[in-house]
Amino acid sequence: MTIYQEIVGEQAWLASLRRFFHAHPELSRQEYQTAEKIERELDEIGVPHRRVDDTGVYGEIIGYGGEGPTIVLRADIDALPIQEEAELPFRSQNPGVMHACGHDMHASTLMAAARVLARRRGQFGGTVRLFFQQAEEIGYGANRFVEAGLLDGAFRVFGIHSAPDLAVGTVGVKAGPNNASVDHFTIRIKGKAAHVSTPQLGADAAYIAAQIVVAAQGIVTRCTSPTDAVILGVGKISAGTAYNIVAEEAVLEGTTRLFTPELRTSVNARLERLAKSVAELYGGEATVEWVDYASPLVNSPDVCAEIGGRVTALFGTNALITDRALSCGGDDFAEFLLQVPGAYAYVGTAAPETAGSSGPAHNSRFTIDERALPIAATLYAECAWMWLNH
Ligand code: NI
Repeated sequence: MTIYQEIVGEQAWLASLRRFFHAHPELSRQEYQTAEKIERELDEIGVPHRRVDDTGVYGEIIGYGGEGPTIVLRADIDALPIQEEAELPFRSQNPGVMHACGHDMHASTLMAAARVLARRRGQFGGTVRLFFQQAEEIGYGANRFVEAGLLDGAFRVFGIHSAPDLAVGTVGVKAGPNNASVDHFTIRIKGKAAHVSTPQLGADAAYIAAQIVVAAQGIVTRCTSPTDAVILGVGKISAGTAYNIVAEEAVLEGTTRLFTPELRTSVNARLERLAKSVAELYGGEATVEWVDYASPLVNSPDVCAEIGGRVTALFGTNALITDRALSCGGDDFAEFLLQVPGAYAYVGTAAPETAGSSGPAHNSRFTIDERALPIAATLYAECAWMWLNH
């Protein structure tokens, strides 16, 4: 039997597991019941596991003798603060929380792959590390697995994401940048209050903030290539206390999105310099704080070629999409790609007959076409199998 045939043979179980996760979504860092369910499923197939931080689950399938390459397979497991609106029979039982990004599909299909690989552990000599990763949506979970040393010594890392922009039956595997970095910045400007009639005695934090907002777009248009995608957005401004007082304080919040580590470093550094020098010019002071949500997600071209070969062999040449559009949303799978050669594949979930399957993700009516489940599960298992036997 092929891996695909084995997975199709368990399709009913796979769909019911996905529906269980869908009906019981949990927010980032609160995935306790999800983790327990994953642990019960791993117990059933004799796969040892342990927690990573509070709610991540790490499982390990060791082949005979344990000698051979180590392969990492990752699924994220958290849900979103959204009230589900579609009337599915397995809709969310958790008010205000919903699997609106396909992480129910990721967790269930990785478990299906784990079942196949666990059954075959007498036939390979390496190790498969299973990452059921918590808190992707807040850019928290991946770094916990990195810190735990779970990428150390690995030969390949692989993960999948559902893709409402791709037809079910297709798989997007794109070399190079796929997703942008996500950084959140807070710029605090300290000025000096004065009566509005004597601006020369104060330092106007509101004016400085306005200058920074406008000047920052010059970093995009004057300091980076027009052919590079660069986002620098300010989404929140607050300043001042009354109409006739020169504002003493202002706070700006925004985000940058970049597709290479080099651009991420240079754009973020330039924004920081700009804020400080504009503030200084007008007699104030600026400090910049960063929260790092995700690095740019950059797929290894060599690994994409390996995966692409499996996709076309399994599902036909038309199944492989190599030019999927860049996404300015981030994914912390990117942190794993900084450690180990690997790739993130996008499994098509859209079908005209399944309402909500064409997205958008993070929408209250989002769903997947379940024909994508055996495809995703097969891809996880087949890629691991290929690398274990390389
Ligand atoms: Ni997602």
